[in-house]
Amino acid sequence: MEVSDFVKWLVPFHLVQFTWVGSPLIRRRSRYLLTETQREKMRVACRFNADVMDFIRPHVQPGVTTGKLDELIHDYTLDHGHTPACLGYPGDKFPFPNSCCISVNDIICHGIPGDYELRPGDIANVDLTSIVDGWHGDQSETFLIGMVDAHVRDVTQCAFDSLYLAIEAIHPDCPISNIGEAIVEHVAQHYPGFGVVDKYIGHGIGQRFHQPPNIPHVPNRQSRQERLAPGMCFTIEPMINGGTSDTKCDRSDGWTVRTTDGAVSAQFEHTLLMTETGVEIMTRTQTGPQAGHTFQ
Ligand code: MF3
Ligand code: CO
Ligand code: CO
Repeated sequence: MEVSDFVKWLVPFHLVQFTWVGSPLIRRRSRYLLTETQREKMRVACRFNADVMDFIRPHVQPGVTTGKLDELIHDYTLDHGHTPACLGYPGDKFPFPNSCCISVNDIICHGIPGDYELRPGDIANVDLTSIVDGWHGDQSETFLIGMVDAHVRDVTQCAFDSLYLAIEAIHPDCPISNIGEAIVEHVAQHYPGFGVVDKYIGHGIGQRFHQPPNIPHVPNRQSRQERLAPGMCFTIEPMINGGTSDTKCDRSDGWTVRTTDGAVSAQFEHTLLMTETGVEIMTRTQTGPQAGHTFQ
């Protein structure tokens, strides 16, 4: 018997829960802190996911259907021996029917690919998640289709800058709320009238698609209390609406989330690792927009 087992019998149970280092509470938290071997697994999964984004980017053009893009993503992923995490992912009502989410114009997130043909003036968010050797990489980009209105461009730029300002705002052991603070401040200052969606949030990620911690893009009580410890893997994925931040989920398919005022919505997402020295962007692409990018 180890000393710790002995201590367990001497300390009253209610104290053990909160004070003893080996308590279930603390062990549960450390499940989400990755070892170097596990971090390497995530790097491989995220690099593949970024490759899928680089593969699909030239296909996102006027005239292509969202269903065709989904099919290309599905086949590319399977051809490389990996699995699209979205396909069959359980929801409140129905499992997700496709291999990625494509959210056009007033669709905020979880758009279902289908017959819709992209046309000039649209924006389309492609959200990809791959499972590689049991580990998940998750990222999204919003694409401008041909020439778009200045307002539509602004919403897209705002979402892109929100992601990178949030990444710049975090460091080892900082409160999770640094993310929401950076985003809300930027939007209030430079884009008054735009809405930061708070109903849908970023998330911890690893051997599961969605796991603790919650990563809200608007600060709340929980995010002010929780910290980004070295070893945590998580997403930041701000959704910015060109009007109200309100959302409504389509009851007929159980997935499609739209703005309530019909305004457009844009989103960018990366999977990140907090290390002992700073944050690592794990889903960085070769040919996608890099930090500081300006949309024209
Ligand atoms: N990729 C989304 C995210 O960033 C989740 C999509 S769930 C799905 O968390 F089932 F719709 F694919
Ligand atoms: Co995500
Ligand atoms: Co995603």
